[in-house]
Amino acid sequence: MSTLGLMAGSEQITKAVSGIKSQVAAARGRDPATGSASTFEILATWPGVQAILAYRLAHRLYCRRLPLVPLGISFFSRVITGIEIHPGAQIGQGFFIDHGAGVVIGETAEIGDNVTLYQGVTLGGTGFQAGKRHPTIEDNVTIGSGAKLLGPVTVGHGAKIGANTVVVEDVPSRSTVVGNPGHPVRIEGRKVEGPDADWIHLPDPLQDAVKSLSARIKELEKQVADLSGGEDPQVEHPVTPPKKGRSSAGG
Ligand SMILES: CC(C)(COP(=O)(O)OP(=O)(O)OC[C@H]1O[C@@H](n2cnc3c(N)ncnc32)[C@H](O)[C@@H]1OP(=O)(O)O)[C@@H](O)C(=O)NCCC(=O)NCCS
Repeated sequence: MSTLGLMAGSEQITKAVSGIKSQVAAARGRDPATGSASTFEILATWPGVQAILAYRLAHRLYCRRLPLVPLGISFFSRVITGIEIHPGAQIGQGFFIDHGAGVVIGETAEIGDNVTLYQGVTLGGTGFQAGKRHPTIEDNVTIGSGAKLLGPVTVGHGAKIGANTVVVEDVPSRSTVVGNPGHPVRIEGRKVEGPDADWIHLPDPLQDAVKSLSARIKELEKQVADLSGGEDPQVEHPVTPPKKGRSSAGG
């Protein structure tokens, strides 16, 4: 083998070793359960770490347009770890999947640096359309267990997605989004101002329409009475009083 070939080979090995080290460091930084576990224990038993390392290899081969092998690696990784990452997905540095079972990351998903996912997260599409159809996740995002992010939505940097949230719209940076459909409950650490949660004393558009019609009829009756020289009939137009009292929603 030529000196150039040897140098290229050793460069690849150095890169691979530093990739493995940074993956283990991401696990140590974000999973307290790593505690006193050795690097070997983490590599041998942390499915999230195994799945990401397998993805890194599969992605490199996928970019070189090697047939079958990248998808094969992805398939075996899923069999062993329960985590499915399409080799075409683009994932930045410091990515970590905790526990991991049931995680699915689609082909056109894009993930920035230092992103954390828990088990059961789906970065999926919404239908059968081709092209960019999976989410884009910016840097330092955390996505709780069971969250489903569907379609080509963008999750802004530093956002937190609550467990079991269903995200179908863009998520602002540094916000906390929960629920189905996902909605922000915090932006920049502050509670979101907005309509209160009083679902009992809701505005009643029907009653508003009846009130306005009633007022117009009264006015017309007055005008007819004036024109005909008769008396204003003074008909009572009943109006339902607004509901009062405590809301069961606490509003
Ligand atoms: C969303 C989350 C990140 C908390 O963020 P936070 O900024 O600390 O927000 P808070 O805990 O103050 O919650 C804010 C509001 O959202 C609600 N909320 C929090 N998490 C929620 C969730 N997953 N689903 C629905 N509502 C949720 C809270 O009840 C609170 O409501 P309130 O303002 O009416 O009281 C956290 O609750 C979460 O879901 N983390 C994921 C953890 C996980 O998946 N762990 C797996 C370990 S194996």
